[in-house]
Amino acid sequence: MFELMDEWGPEKVVTVNHQRSGMQGVLVIDNTSRGPGKGGTRMRADLTVAEVASLARVMTWKWAAVDLYQGGAKAGIRFDPTSPRKEEALRAFARMLRNEVPSEYVFGLDMGLNEADAAILCDELGDRGAATGTPAALGGVAYDALGITGHGVAEAVDASVAHCGIDDDRVVVQGFGAVGHATVRRLSELGYRIVAVSTAVGAVHDPDGLDVTELLLLREAHGDALVDHASGQRLAAGRELTLDAGILVPAAQQGVLDATNAGDVRARLVVEGANLPTDAAAQELLAARGVTLVPDFIANAGGIIAAAFGMRDRYSPFGVATDQIVPTVTERMRANTLTVLEAATTTDTTPHAAAGQLARDRVRQAMELRGQVPPTRQEIR
Ligand SMILES: NC(=O)c1ccc[n+]([C@@H]2O[C@H](COP(=O)([O-])OP(=O)(O)OC[C@H]3O[C@@H](n4cnc5c(N)ncnc54)[C@H](O)[C@@H]3O)[C@@H](O)[C@H]2O)c1
Repeated sequence: MFELMDEWGPEKVVTVNHQRSGMQGVLVIDNTSRGPGKGGTRMRADLTVAEVASLARVMTWKWAAVDLYQGGAKAGIRFDPTSPRKEEALRAFARMLRNEVPSEYVFGLDMGLNEADAAILCDELGDRGAATGTPAALGGVAYDALGITGHGVAEAVDASVAHCGIDDDRVVVQGFGAVGHATVRRLSELGYRIVAVSTAVGAVHDPDGLDVTELLLLREAHGDALVDHASGQRLAAGRELTLDAGILVPAAQQGVLDATNAGDVRARLVVEGANLPTDAAAQELLAARGVTLVPDFIANAGGIIAAAFGMRDRYSPFGVATDQIVPTVTERMRANTLTVLEAATTTDTTPHAAAGQLARDRVRQAMELRGQVPPTRQEIR
């Protein structure tokens, strides 16, 4: 486990082993220099400590990049989330971390966990604030139903279009799930023309613009098969990435743009709605061709901004302040996107590199101010 540790963290790793249920689990608190560790709780049969540690590190950078005062952390439960004994595993995990939760870590949702599970974790510890992501009936907020991540992606698109002076209103969105459909909905409100959308089933294309109201209704009726019912030309999934449109939003899966297809992208702006949709080769190819690429941890940060409200208000008798979430996400997403694009221009680097540097600088400064590392900057000495 020591090989997981470096100059940034993790500060603390707690592993638990519940012999009766076979549940094993880990809590990784990566870096709390800017605030208490916060990140989701994942359940997966093949979960590893290294996986949770790397996700905790990502949270350290995400919170710093959006300039919110939380630190990086993540928890993981090695257990089959479809097992009928899931509740037993959840309760055992919560009990075994009662020394750390909620004083040092608050559970949250990630792969394999849903709102009902968050309620069980709170119940086991007898503490309403032991988890975020609890059902609305318990004062929590359904972020996916609110479509907050997609709303933020759309705001990042709009801020980037203005910054880069792009005079093309045609957008392609890959993926029509929690993130994709909400991105399309908000972009349409902002006056953009959605020329193609896709799901795992396939893509649908209309160069004059698809009917967004129809798409949203078809999603409710048919889920991913909406593309078989929508008006427009039906294409194979993946074809949408290289269609003629000024803006591309990959909002489905990781690794969809790589060395084999990034050279064929015709968009001038690519905004990463999904996590890790481009690999390093794709990023280089796009940069070489002058395509602006807004990184995932800036573009899809709407969800973590909303999660910060969940953290702040989890004990409030008024519930989470939902009315403040949307305007705050709008304002922060626009400001963060501009900060990163401007930093990339000033330092003559890519937005990915600029965002990473910004996050590291903020964490480093907090560590120096708290005396956790020797100061490197003259004014702090
Ligand atoms: N939900 C959130 O708040 C959130 C926050 C941050 C990042 N993300 C990331 O955004 C991405 C999407 O998450 P989601 O919550 O919308 O998932 P989801 O499961 O709700 O939706 C995924 C969508 O992508 C489609 N899809 C899958 N493979 C495809 C393919 N090859 N081609 C075209 N479409 C395909 C699916 O059919 C579905 O419409 C993931 O990378 C996720 O990690 C999600």
